[in-house]
Amino acid sequence: MKKMNSDLNSNTQPLRKHKIFNNWNIVTKGWYIALPSKELKKGQVKTVHINDVKIIVYRTEKGNIHSLDAFCPHMGVDLGLGKVEGEEIKCFFHHWKFDKNANCTDIPCKEEAPKNLKFSSYSTQEKYGYIWVWPESETKETVLNIPALEGLNEDQIIFSQDKEFLRSCHYHTTMINGIDPQHLSTVHNINIDMNIDIDDSKKNHIEILLEGKFPTTNMKERLGKVLLGEKYSYSMKYADGCVASLTMLKGAKFLNRFKLPELHMIFAYSLVEEGKISVRPIYVNKKGKGILGKITGKLKLLVTKAFFKSLQGEDGLVYENIRFNTTAFLKMDEPIVKYIAHINKLEKSVWSKEI
Ligand code: FES
Ligand SMILES: [Fe+2]
Repeated sequence: MKKMNSDLNSNTQPLRKHKIFNNWNIVTKGWYIALPSKELKKGQVKTVHINDVKIIVYRTEKGNIHSLDAFCPHMGVDLGLGKVEGEEIKCFFHHWKFDKNANCTDIPCKEEAPKNLKFSSYSTQEKYGYIWVWPESETKETVLNIPALEGLNEDQIIFSQDKEFLRSCHYHTTMINGIDPQHLSTVHNINIDMNIDIDDSKKNHIEILLEGKFPTTNMKERLGKVLLGEKYSYSMKYADGCVASLTMLKGAKFLNRFKLPELHMIFAYSLVEEGKISVRPIYVNKKGKGILGKITGKLKLLVTKAFFKSLQGEDGLVYENIRFNTTAFLKMDEPIVKYIAHINKLEKSVWSKEI
């Protein structure tokens, strides 16, 4: 397997190592996608391989969702083979039962369960059509809210899920794509002097706003100015080192007069194995009222997807071949430097191989 972040060439090209950032052995506390909501019906249990650990997720007849370690603490059978009964899960092998808090509630042979069974439960949440899992039994955190859609409930937003794809670099590195101002001109041909505003005052997330005025040196820029107005502006929000949101067309005005709607999307990441990650793009927007609202909502999602696909194609090669290093930053790389500092302050979870 190709190891992008190994010590290859460490004499000639030393690699700066970080406590958390770009470290394959660490999984930060955060929300990770387990599976699409529609793939878990009432009374069903599924085994999920996530961040290189195996867990189960089950939906009770009442519709509640719970998550536990996959291997039965008795002899290690996959509880995904078991059966949902009430709010509990029953192991296929010897029928021990476990509740949502990973307590053993019944053993048919009537012996007592051994004390201190090493077995964990995980918090779950349903949002954007997915079931998300947090690597602790309890958390006050919620799955990332897009700042402009904060306060709206699930019925007031519209979303569509794009296909999961794999990348052969750590997600901490591909996440910098949105906040690397130099590559906007060198790769994407967007030659705008960006003002950058960074809010890193929160513990669990960092927000970065990039904006600048369209120059008018070529056709593409002049067209951009006509279609979107004077300003080119977008923002990124990164939560827990594993989910990001992008808001495009901030303050954009068609013909410099008619306000255009903002476009939003989310990137949800997880580890597959060392050297491989999964990326799930989700397009999200505010749902309008009535049939017209539905049509314009869908249209906004399609335009968001088109924007994303056009930029994604231009970057793919970079992240398939990067040995990301942090030894030679310029002043212009400040958003990346602050983002890395933010990641390095996040907490490790029990899913880490190095605690
Ligand atoms: S292995 Fe699960 S009850 Fe024995
Ligand atoms: Fe890019």
